[in-house]
Amino acid sequence: MKDRRNMAKLWGGRFKARTNPAFEYFSSSISCDYKLAEYDIRASRAHARMLKKIRILSATELRAILKGLDTIEKTLGKFAQGFVSRKYEDIHSFIESELVRIAGPSAKKIHTARSRNDQVNQAVRMYCKDAAFNVIRHLSALQLSILRQARRNEHVAIAGYTHLQKAQPILVSHQFLSYIEALERSKNQIEDCLGRIDVLTLGSGALAGSTIAIDREAVRKELGFASVSGNSLDSVGSRDFMSELAFALAQLGVTLSRVAEDFLIGQIEELSWYEIPEELCTGSSMMPQKRNPDFLELARGASAILIGNSTALLALQKGLPGSYNRDLQWDKEPLFASVEITTQILHLFRVFFDGLKVNAANAKKSLQSDSLCATDVAELLVQKGVAFRVAHETVGQFVLACAERKMALRAAPPTTLESFFGKNAAAVRGLLDPEASVRHKKSVGSTSPAEVRKQINRWERALSNASIQI
Ligand code: ARG
Repeated sequence: MKDRRNMAKLWGGRFKARTNPAFEYFSSSISCDYKLAEYDIRASRAHARMLKKIRILSATELRAILKGLDTIEKTLGKFAQGFVSRKYEDIHSFIESELVRIAGPSAKKIHTARSRNDQVNQAVRMYCKDAAFNVIRHLSALQLSILRQARRNEHVAIAGYTHLQKAQPILVSHQFLSYIEALERSKNQIEDCLGRIDVLTLGSGALAGSTIAIDREAVRKELGFASVSGNSLDSVGSRDFMSELAFALAQLGVTLSRVAEDFLIGQIEELSWYEIPEELCTGSSMMPQKRNPDFLELARGASAILIGNSTALLALQKGLPGSYNRDLQWDKEPLFASVEITTQILHLFRVFFDGLKVNAANAKKSLQSDSLCATDVAELLVQKGVAFRVAHETVGQFVLACAERKMALRAAPPTTLESFFGKNAAAVRGLLDPEASVRHKKSVGSTSPAEVRKQINRWERALSNASIQI
């Protein structure tokens, strides 16, 4: 006599022994994959309608099934506790057994020509599709918020750094626009992933398809996928679309970690270029005076998790034989975590940029050192016919001479200037104004006010039609 204490199973027929309870708990995925419920239900509806079309289900049976699925959808909240405590094996078997309980024996036909292997692949694809569109909308909203800041600070010049050393003056707006540019690449990357995500894999069965002539095209149409998968074996084993999306999110996280770092540096008291929104800061439990930029640090740190999740998804697939293997059940936790973390960060970065204040007076202070103009001087000499390498050497020696005398370049007496630059001395002297430096830039994509204005106009146009409904 069978021991019936086990959790309800779709595959109990062949078994005599009860499943080890610790293994039952370990192998359950419902505490995570309950997030696929709405997708599984939607796919089940399409599958059921198709089964009616090919006369596996009668109209009455289909009605009972659709009604049952509606009820399950509405009452999912009731089962939250059972999901957390892993009372069920996974969301797919939970929905099927609930359906049989609610809709009666007709629901026992729902699994015709279907396996959890194609079901889970399909549901995850639907999740990824929604997630990708959602992240894209968040990205557009964030870009718009950054663009507003670029406009607000269009003419504020500040010292630009390389190697954390003062390099050349730039416009703060140019810096903000650089973020928009990088975020656009993430958006394109995610849009590109969508091409590989947007495929109907349901109807692939366990691995080999079905002896029943199911109508996959009808299911594709109802679910709104771009194409029907061409190989059942590949369909049930494919997770590359997931690792690809997870990588795109990891890259986005890394980009945002760099944005966070720019502001973490710029907000230190000694620089105080930026005032970051207090609603994104926290205090110290011991030091009463503290106001810490925790959001930026958490966002910077989150990229570690996003990188880890992307790596975990790749590692999970490595060396697996083709088709479905249970290892793949571990795919959802990293994927869901990456999507959830990314959407939260994108939302909060928007709050950040909406509330950010640039302190123009302190930005100006960063321009005190006129060696920021050294490259402009070298380029001036080039335009007077001097070879760049020679000009570089001459300006370098001039900078060294001034540094040794602890004086600004513009404080050099005319005789010194003439000894280095001859007849160009006056022109050189005229260039030693860091605040004016950006105005001398001429190349496309440079930080000159005219080029920055072009960028602002371009992004205004590009983002005016972007959907940002979140
Ligand atoms: N819960 C599984 C997963 O997420 C799907 C079920 C496949 N199980 C199986 N025994 N074929 O991957």
